[in-house]
Amino acid sequence: MGKISLRPNNDYCPQTLFLYGTYDENGNPDFGLFCWFSYIWDGELGVMCCIGGNKTTRENIERSKIFSANLVTEKLLAVADHLGNTSGSDPDKMKIDLDIGKGAVLDVPILNDSPVNFELEVTDLIQKHDGEVILCKIRNVLQDESLSSDESVDKKLSSIAPVRTTARTYLGNDGSNLGAWGEPRKRL
Ligand SMILES: Cc1cc2nc3c(=O)[nH]c(=O)nc-3n(C[C@H](O)[C@H](O)[C@H](O)COP(=O)(O)O)c2cc1C
Repeated sequence: MGKISLRPNNDYCPQTLFLYGTYDENGNPDFGLFCWFSYIWDGELGVMCCIGGNKTTRENIERSKIFSANLVTEKLLAVADHLGNTSGSDPDKMKIDLDIGKGAVLDVPILNDSPVNFELEVTDLIQKHDGEVILCKIRNVLQDESLSSDESVDKKLSSIAPVRTTARTYLGNDGSNLGAWGEPRKRL
């Protein structure tokens, strides 16, 4: 099988999706959709992520140094797609049906319908030319009680059905095609 050389891209490298929750300076919650999210080790598990360009999420994180990362599931996909395709500067962005709670340890908005919520505190903000890399300490993980059962991991994953993405396409937990970016929000 031959290979072809391509410009930088990450197609066919699926990533897990998260909705980052922040408050603006007036205490209003904002959620944005993000996939450049992974983990680091520094004596304990931490998180690293990248935000490119100007975004409300980025402004709020730079100011407050705290945010939540809420795992996106198939049930949440239509709202997630809306939140990932609408800027926080749009006054109507957050006028959708969302069950918003609060972190248990940090003053961050969380999505109650997401089964896993990270409460994150920024330790390092690495400014690049048009984006920034953010390193975080995990201050708390909120998890649905159902995930503490003795069932196998694969059964629990199929019950919560996390969404992955690659090539501007959403994929279900079973690998099925859930639509191109911008499509699921049409169901709202
Ligand atoms: C599937 C998907 C994944 C995304 N992942 C990222 C990401 O990892 N980093 C980033 O800077 N923007 C990412 N975005 C773009 C932001 O979600 C988008 O700019 C959003 O409008 C930001 O909202 P805000 O202005 O309220 O922060 C993604 C968008 C989509 C649709």
